[in-house]
Amino acid sequence: MRHSLVFRSAIIAAAMIGVGAQAQTPAAAFTTDGKLEFPREYRTWVYLSSGMDMAYVENAGMADQHMFDNVFVDRASYDGFLETGHWPEGAMFVLEIRGGQGQGSINRKGLFQTGRMGVEVHLKDKRFASGWAFFPFNGEAPAQALPQTSQCNACHEAHGVVDTTFVQFYPTLLPVAKAKETLSAAYSAEEKAR
Ligand code: HEC
Repeated sequence: MRHSLVFRSAIIAAAMIGVGAQAQTPAAAFTTDGKLEFPREYRTWVYLSSGMDMAYVENAGMADQHMFDNVFVDRASYDGFLETGHWPEGAMFVLEIRGGQGQGSINRKGLFQTGRMGVEVHLKDKRFASGWAFFPFNGEAPAQALPQTSQCNACHEAHGVVDTTFVQFYPTLLPVAKAKETLSAAYSAEEKAR
């Protein structure tokens, strides 16, 4: 039996006896060949933020093409973060990329979101050497983890301020990390120098 099927039967069994064990079930499900299943329910997870036209290098992107990224995390890991300021094992994040449009219907100013352009996942999982892995999805087919030396790993390790995640851009989590003092030393020093 495939792992994902075992996982699904466990959820159904839990739901049938009504113990509500779903919160403890890991958000991630893997295929037998080690790929991550597309997280179909991510739109019901906890919403962290939307970046608009964010770019990490000068002159990035096309001038008149707009993009949003919406960030979600599974509910159990969010609850864990509120308690400790760190991410528990199994924490799973989705970055959903959508187009942005200005003119449409009654809108005359500002932008609204349009079709999905991509889904990327960041996962805390011990089976990977650094404890974290990145998965760019192509449609909804299962995705292979990128090598630990990928650009995703490098940028997140260098600039993500809590456990390689970008909590500095998530307005409801930043105060929690400050209170629990779990922000990276580099970020705290940078903020003090401001
Ligand atoms: C140059 C830096 C950089 C690179 C490279 C990068 N990211 Fe990110 N990533 C960010 C930033 C900044 C955010 C916060 C986005 C926001 O605030 O909306 C982010 C957020 C995320 C999130 C949301 C959870 C989190 O960790 O904060 C996921 C998932 C993610 N990136 C996946 C990827 C994947 C997959 C790749 C490689 C294909 C990648 N990223 C490459 C900078 C980077």
